[in-house]
Amino acid sequence: MKRDFISLADLTREQFEHLFAFAARLKADRKDGWPHPFLAGKTLAMIFEKPSLRTRVTFEAGMVQLGGYAVYLSPQDIGMGSRESVADVARNLSRWVDLIMVRTFSHAVVLELARHATIPVINGLSDLLHPCQVLADCFTLLEQYGRLDGLKIAFVGDGNNVANSWINAASRLPFSFALACPPGYEPDADILARARQRGARVTITHSVEEAVRGADAVYTDVWVSMGQEQERARRREVFRPYQVNAAVMAMAKPRAFVMHCLPAHRGEEITDDVLDGPQSLVLEQAENRLHVQKAIMVWLLRQRRKSDMTPPEAAEPPRP
Ligand code: CP
Ligand code: NVA
Repeated sequence: MKRDFISLADLTREQFEHLFAFAARLKADRKDGWPHPFLAGKTLAMIFEKPSLRTRVTFEAGMVQLGGYAVYLSPQDIGMGSRESVADVARNLSRWVDLIMVRTFSHAVVLELARHATIPVINGLSDLLHPCQVLADCFTLLEQYGRLDGLKIAFVGDGNNVANSWINAASRLPFSFALACPPGYEPDADILARARQRGARVTITHSVEEAVRGADAVYTDVWVSMGQEQERARRREVFRPYQVNAAVMAMAKPRAFVMHCLPAHRGEEITDDVLDGPQSLVLEQAENRLHVQKAIMVWLLRQRRKSDMTPPEAAEPPRP
């Protein structure tokens, strides 16, 4: 059976740990010039219905570093759901390439693609979830603290796709997660309920201080996500008390990190001094998108034999 990467709620604790360890191994290879052609001859199709810097470049560069190739498909190129049905796109791509990454609006489109594709599908962001981002963020915290166990992650802002993925991660990993948002901007109720059933330690509050007090990391994201541009004026008003600035960081543990998935709207959800300051992990997060997504792609495509996941020195390109 093929495997997809759509939601962090689908991963077991062991799979998280495997992906972290494998990403660390791939990252350590960098100094030797990426000697790891695990995916030689493989092709990734990248469907983008929203803009991107990090997701596009890290998937494309990552595929090249793994010995493969990536094809970028813009909304104008394929008109998924208008020029051609989602199912037909999935069926056609399955005949030509090995892997699909999709960034889209409705999460139902990601699920439909995965249902009709016979190859693995990776969720590169939907309105509901951003699992690649949060996996890279957890890996980043693991690098800094050497553990996730016992950490308190505070999220200040919108209960959006990134926040939902954090809640999914909290249902599998041993940290606690506290989200402060304005009333009416809470995360997805089903995701929250399922995570709590699984024992996730998640607090949802309207108080920034309650969320941030004692936090080891303070996370934020834009107030206006892609596709919500028509709500900009209202959101800028509603979210004003939820800016991450020096006063908010002072409520966290003294050496707490500040995190942001980027792109940032400087001066809105976060101030320059905090984003660019010594507690900021944002560029580590961005870099780790590359390493973690490479691990995801190898995991999805080389899952059949245990030996497929052996370290890079064993990964010879296929013989002619
Ligand atoms: N964080 C993130 O996904 O960035 P992009 O939107 O630039 O891909
Ligand atoms: N919540 C943001 C994340 C961007 C990476 C958005 O969906 O636009």
